[in-house]
Amino acid sequence: MKLWVNGGLHDADAARVSVLDHGLTVGDGVFETLKAVDGRPFAMEPHLDRLTRSARGLGLPDPDLDEVRRACAAVLEANPMPLGRLRITYTGGLSPLGSDRGDAGPTLVVALGETSHRPDTTAVITVPWTRNERSALAGLKTTSYAENVVALARAHERGGSEALFANTVGQLCEGTGSNVFVVLDGQLHTPPLASGCLAGITRALTVEWTGALETELPMDVLERADEVFLTSTLRDVQAVHRVDGRELPGAPGPVTAKAMRIFAERAAQM
Ligand SMILES: Cc1ncc(COP(=O)(O)O)c(C=O)c1O
Repeated sequence: MKLWVNGGLHDADAARVSVLDHGLTVGDGVFETLKAVDGRPFAMEPHLDRLTRSARGLGLPDPDLDEVRRACAAVLEANPMPLGRLRITYTGGLSPLGSDRGDAGPTLVVALGETSHRPDTTAVITVPWTRNERSALAGLKTTSYAENVVALARAHERGGSEALFANTVGQLCEGTGSNVFVVLDGQLHTPPLASGCLAGITRALTVEWTGALETELPMDVLERADEVFLTSTLRDVQAVHRVDGRELPGAPGPVTAKAMRIFAERAAQM
């Protein structure tokens, strides 16, 4: 496996960043995960736009997107695989111990891992911890993801593959690494960005292609929604067949099945 670190390709074993990198010491960094099918990254430009937005949100210098594109192309070419998870990480770089960022300049890492197609349906849980829609990091894809690590571990303990959060005012927000959609009376809804969720690339495409409404939804909508599905780069559109103890028999239901079909068709044309 070869990956890109600060300007060049290296064997994964030999690739190095400082142990005092601010990404490591305090989680001062941003990232993107892209899907690569047969070496072709999906929706590269929206991911690069979001990388820049996230970096600006942390006060990091804008990433050099030409270098990021070059790095992605080099890593994909060096590691051929049918379905890859391409990860761009951009951090505050070598810094003093503590929350002040150093002036050594940012670190850029691009790595690739092999992955497989997700199942068409999955189980999710809800967790008692909240997304803070008023956080300085709301809507940014930062490497400060330990809350997601804890929630996802809880989901796995309970037989699920994702954990869903409410925000601080009890509205449905998102999963640890996915956005959420619900069907109510045949109409598709997803929480608005003001809920504090990430502006998922898959979410935006799904809203555009299905006409889903962006609606503030109370968390307990999950107890009565006719259908529930998740969207993310590696899940595409994935139906939910259980939320906590509530079974959703027949998942994917008709609206979800249609969204899955539309997404697969439109994405294949991109
Ligand atoms: C917190 C969070 N929400 C939503 C998503 C889904 O975004 P995307 O569709 O761009 O992968 C992600 C990305 O993995 C995420 O980390």
